[in-house]
Amino acid sequence: MLSFLKIAEKLNLGTKLNLVLISIFLMVILSSGIFLSIILGKSAEDVVNQKAFLLIETMSSVRDYTSNQINPELAPRLETEDQFLPQTIPAYSAREVFEGLRSKPEYQDFFYKEATLNPTNLRDKADEFETKIVENFRKQPSLKQITGFRSLPGSDIYYIARPLAVTKESCLRCHSAPALAPRSQIATYGDKNGFGWQLNEIIAAQIISVPASTVFNAARQLQFLVIGVLSFFLLLTVFLINLFLKKTVTNHLKKMSQVAQRVSTGDLSGEFKHSAQDEIGILAASLNRMKVSLEIAMNMLDSESDSEKI
Ligand code: HEC
Repeated sequence: MLSFLKIAEKLNLGTKLNLVLISIFLMVILSSGIFLSIILGKSAEDVVNQKAFLLIETMSSVRDYTSNQINPELAPRLETEDQFLPQTIPAYSAREVFEGLRSKPEYQDFFYKEATLNPTNLRDKADEFETKIVENFRKQPSLKQITGFRSLPGSDIYYIARPLAVTKESCLRCHSAPALAPRSQIATYGDKNGFGWQLNEIIAAQIISVPASTVFNAARQLQFLVIGVLSFFLLLTVFLINLFLKKTVTNHLKKMSQVAQRVSTGDLSGEFKHSAQDEIGILAASLNRMKVSLEIAMNMLDSESDSEKI
């Protein structure tokens, strides 16, 4: 600290001021950078969360609609027809509705899956990551939702996952033993997959994924823009303060020290000029008075030595 002060003593006024200004400047940029990244990160997370939340609620409504309104209409046909009607199955309708949404280019990076450990339709098979989510729900039955980020090749996604359990005895007809299931189901899906489920067992996780990279990139761009504009104004401030210091203080001090230098070598012709009434002006006026006194004293000395000579 002491050696720092010693070094500071040797620096000129402008350099000292700039050191202080640049330290403040860096502190402002650093703290606002941290603050902005927390605030914008939080709001980006809110945006993706809201999108994902709305979509998972919608998908649950599609499921409810299918099981309450479509299934009762079509279920009797499952017993008689050779062709299985997947439209009776909530998992199928939710997936199909979502695929319709995904066919629009702006939603193609959104995903919906009823990720299942032992699925009837193999497109619902949980991958390694999804299997862990289902297992977490199995371990903690009180857990109603898991949210988080996942890195996929090409993009990051934000997901909301909710447990899916075998809530009704009626589910077991098609998901316990193949012999109980409608023949048309076996003909379409085979007798290997989607059986052996237990009542109240958590068999899957309903997972909605929304792209997060675009939202987070936009937040990062906004952060850079704000920091950029802030830096510009801070640099402008440093520049203007320097200009002001030069015009009002350092230039005048330099001129005055040149005059003082000449006065000290006996050349009393110069004048300490300064028009403003500020501290520098007062100093110039005092120096001028001192110069006049010096002039009078020297004249007196001169005339004394002249009379001595006579
Ligand atoms: C009439 C037979 C039938 C009944 C009853 C039934 N399901 Fe299914 N379930 C299926 C079929 C067939 C599929 C595959 C649909 C598809 O192609 O996506 C399926 C798919 C699912 C899926 C998606 C994962 C997978 O296995 O592909 C879940 C989850 C599911 N059913 C849960 C239930 C629950 C919970 C109930 C009871 C409320 C139930 N099912 C009742 C036949 C049935």
